[in-house]
Amino acid sequence: MSDTLVPAPKLVAGLADVPVVASSVSYIDGNKGILEYRGFPIETLAARSTFEETCWLLLYGKLPTRAEFDGFKKRLAEQRELPARMIDMLRALPGAGHPMHALQASISALGMFSRKKDIHNPDDVQDACLRIIAATPVLVAAFDRLRSGKDYVAPDPTLDTAANFLYMLTGAKPDDFAARVLDVALVLHAEHTMNASTFAARVVASTEADPYTVCSSAVGALTGPLHGGANERVLEVLKDIGSPDKVEPWVEAQLKAKGKVMGFGHRVYKVKDPRALILQDLAKKLFERLGSTPIYDVAVELERQVEKRLGQRGIYPNVDFFSGIVYAKLGIATDLFTPVFAISRVAGYCAHWMEQMVGNKIFRPDQIYTGGHQREYVDISLR
Ligand code: CMC
Repeated sequence: MSDTLVPAPKLVAGLADVPVVASSVSYIDGNKGILEYRGFPIETLAARSTFEETCWLLLYGKLPTRAEFDGFKKRLAEQRELPARMIDMLRALPGAGHPMHALQASISALGMFSRKKDIHNPDDVQDACLRIIAATPVLVAAFDRLRSGKDYVAPDPTLDTAANFLYMLTGAKPDDFAARVLDVALVLHAEHTMNASTFAARVVASTEADPYTVCSSAVGALTGPLHGGANERVLEVLKDIGSPDKVEPWVEAQLKAKGKVMGFGHRVYKVKDPRALILQDLAKKLFERLGSTPIYDVAVELERQVEKRLGQRGIYPNVDFFSGIVYAKLGIATDLFTPVFAISRVAGYCAHWMEQMVGNKIFRPDQIYTGGHQREYVDISLR
């Protein structure tokens, strides 16, 4: 048979537009700016749901009854407690290291303390997901306090995830509004179809690794500046620019140098990210209460200038553009912005892990080989 009948494999860089799973966890229409979790519009969830309820929705595909929800929240609160040796481990990590690295290491270590991670046992599956969702914010807050020489603040079981996280960072109960703002931000970040870190989670899950390993791998993928790490970079850029009148020359220089503007652009959205719209609105409400911040005016001007130049190419603000402004106003340190993203996104990873386990097939894609063949081995003495 002639070789010409076999189509040459075609490389799709970054797997752009290539479906790699069938999933019912979330849906995006990037041209219309639609994001849904389990069929529910993100705007509805941001306005009416909570992070805990959203976690349940992502894991189980439906809204919980009152009894289911109360039981879930109780178990989440119980699962926040860390073993003393885990706290010792966080204390031993270098305080100057990045909190995302601490988080990746500590989620993996958390798995070493758990005996309940048999991926074929439904009880263990539930336990592991709850443990990871409950403990991730505790690991982030604990590392932040310990790295700055402060005492560990034990979690408060009467508070929900967002309020408890803010409480553990500062040792003071946050006001309801601040806690609700963070709660909405967590809802917005919980899931986002086949992004790089969720894909990483599914690849690792497909090897039948345990969920702690799956989530720590995904957290590693989230770290990069093209993905979750962008939110930290956005705030640095806004601070560097300093004032609205300096935005235009900065954008000109950045684009001339073929540099990217962090917080803009998306593989799927060709309009403004719906999460950015909600976060911008939240930022405004936060400023009405706590006073505005000069970097917000820089951000608005940056959006205007970038849109003028790149809008026609479908490059608009993404979720990372306004999240840092919101977190900074809540008093959260800049290098915790990506860990805050992770606190929320572990819910999506767990939902995808559970989905991957149904009819699992290990990921083992192909490659296009570009090297040589049958090369002559020359002895080291003759090279
Ligand atoms: N600033 C300037 N130019 C951009 C930007 C940007 N933020 N984003 C894309 N472009 C240009 C890019 O230079 C390229 O131009 P050309 O065709 O002339 O080489 C074109 O648009 C396509 O960009 P790409 O990087 O090939 O697109 P992608 O789909 O592979 O990447 C992205 C998507 C999000 C990685 C990219 O837009 C980017 O690097 N943005 C900045 C980082 C960022 O904000 N990341 C957060 C993403 S949203 C949260 C999350 O899920 O992590």
